[in-house]
Amino acid sequence: MASTLKVFYQNAFHHLKTTGSIAPSSRFLAQAMIKHVKHQGKPLCILEAGPGTGPFTKRIAALIDEQDHLDLCELNEQFVEYLKQMIQENPKLNRHKTQIEIHHKPVQELTGENRYDYIISGLPFNNFEPEQVREILDKYKRLLKPEGTLSFFEYAGIRPLKPFLTHGREKARVKAVDSILREFLGQYEKERIWVPWNLPPSIVHICRFQ
Ligand SMILES: C[S@@+](CC[C@H](N)C(=O)[O-])C[C@H]1O[C@@H](n2cnc3c(N)ncnc32)[C@H](O)[C@@H]1O
Repeated sequence: MASTLKVFYQNAFHHLKTTGSIAPSSRFLAQAMIKHVKHQGKPLCILEAGPGTGPFTKRIAALIDEQDHLDLCELNEQFVEYLKQMIQENPKLNRHKTQIEIHHKPVQELTGENRYDYIISGLPFNNFEPEQVREILDKYKRLLKPEGTLSFFEYAGIRPLKPFLTHGREKARVKAVDSILREFLGQYEKERIWVPWNLPPSIVHICRFQ
């Protein structure tokens, strides 16, 4: 199996906008992202959006029971191939292989409503167009059960700093994304976790819609 870093950097450079990160997430960030995942006496259904090389996937797999289901939704073909291989070769994932389903498509194209107890999103919203951010957040709202929890992360300081470092169309994009995320977090954020031990340091947003 190719090394995680090799696969990550080959793709990070070729797909800068959609990968949107300079390193795979640390175990500290992964831990914060799944902090709220708990069993409550019934099988769990979990969506991980943008698993990349799987730093969150491994942690989720360590938590799930035999009745639970994990959907991985990943846009990038190389990451999809890497994840398939990882599920075959990593014993912690392999024992859940029949419960893990990979969807090779943009998360916007997932269908259904009230399906998931948890959505763990690794998508780099700060790289996206405002309409795309709105579309994905609306999709998460539809896919999550009313009592479900969404976690997503962003690099600390990016949104406050970027307007000063950009101009023209890019500045307008950054400001529009900031305003969408502020409004969303103002309505739904229940907890914010500061994760210094990640490259770069990050903030995890824990959101609920009710
Ligand atoms: C910031 S990387 C995070 C990867 C990994 N979760 C981590 O923390 O290291 C973002 C991931 O989201 C994927 N991605 C970007 N846009 C997507 C979309 N619309 N639907 C599904 N996956 C997407 C990228 O291919 C990439 O794997």
